[in-house]
Amino acid sequence: MKKNIFNAAIVGFGHIGKLHLETISSIKELNVCAIVDSAPVESELPVFPSIKECHLSHPEIDLYIIATPNGYHYQQAKEVLELQKNVLVEKPIALHKKQVEELITLSHKYNVRIFTSLQLRFSPVIDYVKKLCEKNLLGQLYLVSVECFWNRNTAYYEKSSWHGTQKTDGGILFTQFSHFLDILFYLLGNLELVSSKTENFSHQNCIDFPDTGILQFKSGETLGSMVYTISTYEKNFESSITLIAEKGTIKISGQYMNQLLYHHVENTNPVKMECKTTRFHKDLYENILLSLDKNIPSIADAENTMDVIEFIEKIMKE
Ligand SMILES: NC(=O)c1ccc[n+]([C@@H]2O[C@H](COP(=O)([O-])OP(=O)(O)OC[C@H]3O[C@@H](n4cnc5c(N)ncnc54)[C@H](O)[C@@H]3O)[C@@H](O)[C@H]2O)c1
Repeated sequence: MKKNIFNAAIVGFGHIGKLHLETISSIKELNVCAIVDSAPVESELPVFPSIKECHLSHPEIDLYIIATPNGYHYQQAKEVLELQKNVLVEKPIALHKKQVEELITLSHKYNVRIFTSLQLRFSPVIDYVKKLCEKNLLGQLYLVSVECFWNRNTAYYEKSSWHGTQKTDGGILFTQFSHFLDILFYLLGNLELVSSKTENFSHQNCIDFPDTGILQFKSGETLGSMVYTISTYEKNFESSITLIAEKGTIKISGQYMNQLLYHHVENTNPVKMECKTTRFHKDLYENILLSLDKNIPSIADAENTMDVIEFIEKIMKE
């Protein structure tokens, strides 16, 4: 596909759908023509209640951006692919690996692309650490420790009907912590689940799934653990990934992995980084547009999220 301007529609005009529109307004190669939302929403753009109706009025749309609740992603992405249009699906792309496989197969069948929002891969902090790993500057990676201590209280779940249900939300590893798992896979390659234990401590009345978990994993010789909860008292406390390696110690911190909090690496001057922004959707779009224009792979290709979905599914089954 060779085009100067791509036409897009945003499906789901809530919190993140509005962020997509705002981001796209600064990208001259992308033009949002329409919004799709099943609820009444305010916009200067034409609003349609379904993808089907939007397509009938705007067959020129090249890219649909799915920003609806998690549980609808698979069905809506499938609908878009069957219209032979490209689709960017917010994370998680789907709640089951089989669904992701089916979507990828459909995209090949119709010769269109399917992407997902892996925007934290564009954080300069993650990029810096990824390059250290790729150049083998850390030597053997011994241990990885992830800690995510967040607060999501009853009021948060009462405010939104889709959060908290198995069908539309799917669990905190999908909704709150999938970016952390994505970055682990991005940095380490593959992860093998060794064990996991989950509990629902303080959300029995408002969510269908555990609010806390502890898991152990391996990646080759590297050992790792992740401890995560949404039951932290009153507010978010910590989000971090620590790497303990033969030639260095690294701690990435922040809700959006936006700080390099600790850096002590052989033959390297100390580095402290704090990203000015925590929003990397613009980088994501630039990458996607380039890959559509030149027909080359993208860091946001659906294939790159399959392992995370499979990993979370395994934990949910344990
Ligand atoms: N990439 C990120 O960092 C990031 C951050 C936040 C949320 N998200 C993801 O974005 C998605 C949306 O989250 P949100 O916080 O914007 O939710 P939200 O509740 O604020 O918005 C969802 C919107 O979708 C609409 N909707 C619901 N069902 C629909 C349907 N069947 N068809 C069309 N529209 C429908 C709702 O009316 C609402 O306007 C979720 O999948 C979430 O995991 C990603």
